Amino acid sequence: MELIKLKNLTKTYGTKKKITALDGFDLTVQKGEMLAIMGRSGSGKSTVLNLIAGIDQLGGGTYFFEDTDMSKVTGDKLTRFRRDQIGVVFQHFALIDDYTVYQNIALPLKLSKTPKAEADQKIKKIAAELEITPLLQKYPKELSGGEAQRTAIARAVVTEPKLILADEPTGALDEETGKKIMQVFHNLHEKGNTLVIVTHDPAVAASCERTVRIRDGKNEA
Ligand SMILES: Nc1ncnc2c1ncn2[C@@H]1O[C@H](COP(=O)(O)OP(=O)(O)OP(=O)(O)O)[C@@H](O)[C@H]1O
Ligand SMILES: [Mg+2]
Repeated sequence: MELIKLKNLTKTYGTKKKITALDGFDLTVQKGEMLAIMGRSGSGKSTVLNLIAGIDQLGGGTYFFEDTDMSKVTGDKLTRFRRDQIGVVFQHFALIDDYTVYQNIALPLKLSKTPKAEADQKIKKIAAELEITPLLQKYPKELSGGEAQRTAIARAVVTEPKLILADEPTGALDEETGKKIMQVFHNLHEKGNTLVIVTHDPAVAASCERTVRIRDGKNEA
């Protein structure tokens, strides 16, 4: 069963000097699949993730999520879609500076109104898996790049959303920590979650089921 179907996607940025980020990109992701997206810097990978996540608006083309035409989903419906279905690990982490690590991870649980005790259990479990338990009361500015990245991952997966989008989730990590992160992703995959992972690391791509390559905003054969 198809979870995501992107057809002939286009996206340009800017008004005067137009930059073409996507130029007719196609992508189909099956439910439960673990997929890698690879491509050079500037090829359009983050743009694709932002469109799937509903963070950016489509330029042209179509995007179906299950049976829903996402070009028609706006406002509260779009907010709910993002809250209930998707977890995103941003390339630049996007942690909230005034929140502790614990509060950052707690955010999606709070938004989905998870009872406090249950939320606390989930936060502690994922923090242990990602080895950030000692950091829970720290603030983002007190974290190393890799610690911030693991916090961002914890926040994206703590609700075990149906679809997890991760933008270079191992970019700031050493090899061993990177492997631990991939183990967390594999566990979610085994539970039936769908994962789309942008990566420059061939080892990360190799541990996914399939790799899609993008070049200048187009599919590369
Ligand atoms: N908000 C924006 N405004 C203008 N141009 C943008 C914007 N976001 C992306 N671009 C441009 O669109 C193109 C694709 O960018 P994108 O961020 O998708 O690349 P990427 O494949 O994720 O690269 P990287 O591997 O460096 O993260 C690039 O040429 C980039 O400069
Ligand atoms: Mg990017």
